[in-house]
Amino acid sequence: MQYICTNCEYHALQWSGRCPNCGEWGTYEEMKDADPKVSVSKGVGTKGNLLGENVVESAESVNLSELMVSDAGGRDTDFADGYDRIDSGIGELNRVLGGGIVQGEAVLISGEPGIGKSTLLTQLASNIGRDGDVLYVSGEESLSQVASRFKRLFGKSQPARVKISTEQVVEKVGKLIDDMKPDLVIIDSIQTALSLQSRGVAGSLSQVRTAGGKLVQYAKRFGVPMFIVGQVNKEGVLAGPKILEHSVDCVIHLEGDQHRFYRILRSSKNRYGPTGEIGVFEMGQQGLQEVANPSQVFLSDGAYEAGTVLSGIVQGSRVVFVEVQALVVERQDGEAYVRRVAQGIKRSRLEVLTAVLTKRGGLRLWDKDIFVNIAGGLVVDDPSMDLAICMAIKSAVEDKPVPAENVYIGEVGLTGVVKNFPGAVRIVKEAVRLGYKKVFMPKTIFDRGGVRRSAKKVGVGHVRDL
Ligand code: TYD
Ligand code: MG
Repeated sequence: MQYICTNCEYHALQWSGRCPNCGEWGTYEEMKDADPKVSVSKGVGTKGNLLGENVVESAESVNLSELMVSDAGGRDTDFADGYDRIDSGIGELNRVLGGGIVQGEAVLISGEPGIGKSTLLTQLASNIGRDGDVLYVSGEESLSQVASRFKRLFGKSQPARVKISTEQVVEKVGKLIDDMKPDLVIIDSIQTALSLQSRGVAGSLSQVRTAGGKLVQYAKRFGVPMFIVGQVNKEGVLAGPKILEHSVDCVIHLEGDQHRFYRILRSSKNRYGPTGEIGVFEMGQQGLQEVANPSQVFLSDGAYEAGTVLSGIVQGSRVVFVEVQALVVERQDGEAYVRRVAQGIKRSRLEVLTAVLTKRGGLRLWDKDIFVNIAGGLVVDDPSMDLAICMAIKSAVEDKPVPAENVYIGEVGLTGVVKNFPGAVRIVKEAVRLGYKKVFMPKTIFDRGGVRRSAKKVGVGHVRDL
């Protein structure tokens, strides 16, 4: 006899009141052995072959040519990359998805509570629901709460073809999709979805896996695009949505600081497009507004203080300019350790750059607390901003402002050498085009003739040259 935890699917030979794996109480259930009646040899649709074995009837296949007929319901589609795409009506969302929503794709949209997932999907529902049918399944909020968000966002001009349901059981939702044949389905959220075939409570691992898997199947079977909301907690991830990432076609994250206005949409997986693109929004009275020029978000205006330095970074098809801010203060008396606090970059990266600046750049940092922040809530996991971070720390230590017309790009190695990186030349060209006075870049780009030399461009070989 085996037992299984309905929350985390931990297997055990003995019953226990509390699962030793996930710590939940009363989640153990007896695990039934596989039912011999459904085994292949005795199942329906089998017959004996010449060798005396039982074999399964063959699966069906379809001629490729039959699949070449497109069915986009007469709405705007883009065949540029061969996918049948629907315009979401939100340019930044189209961009992140790879040019629009693909028919039958399942998209998992994750983000912390209150970040704006329901708002974005309400806007999407409204765009599609003007000349297509939308099914908005809300297990999180009541009908009136969903309606009031629509009211708040669109006032008197409501979409005519949006249906709202608060059904939590996915099998019933599947039936509804079959009856209604919508052009878009929104599931808000997976944590409130339930499958009759899983015994866990809503939000448990087994429910998320079973209910989520079913929903993805419905999207495929009925050829309808489906957006599934997955809540994540403050620590970043909840086990649930993580296991769904394998079965959906696209995973997008809505990020940003709740206290700021900006929201960044990015994809970490996309079967139908690139993953590097970001979409930038501003949260306002009218919901999420697209920001056409993202650099404006990441740059603060006004006088530049010491410790603030500009850098550029490639995000998909765009170059975005961002502001790096550093604050360096003497270690407080009585503190055993100095503090290294990073927001928007990895703390380990900050530690490495601090060590390089100390050893190779001649800066005295071992007795100072260092704080580094990327403005606008952007999270950067890309060494192209190393040089800017180094310059920001140096500027902060020496209390000397850096002109706001200067841009710094380059990867910094452990030896202090400033290195080239993919996309560097694109950033340089864009910076010059936008009229930045001076662009500091890896010297190697210069030496190898990567860019046309001019008074605006400065090659930096080593951090000690800063
Ligand atoms: P919501 O979309 O409900 O977040 P999520 O579904 O990710 O939990 O957004 C909630 C926040 O957005 C809430 O704090 C109110 C704010 N908001 C606006 O500022 N303007 C708006 O037009 C709307 C609809 C919400
Ligand atoms: Mg919500």
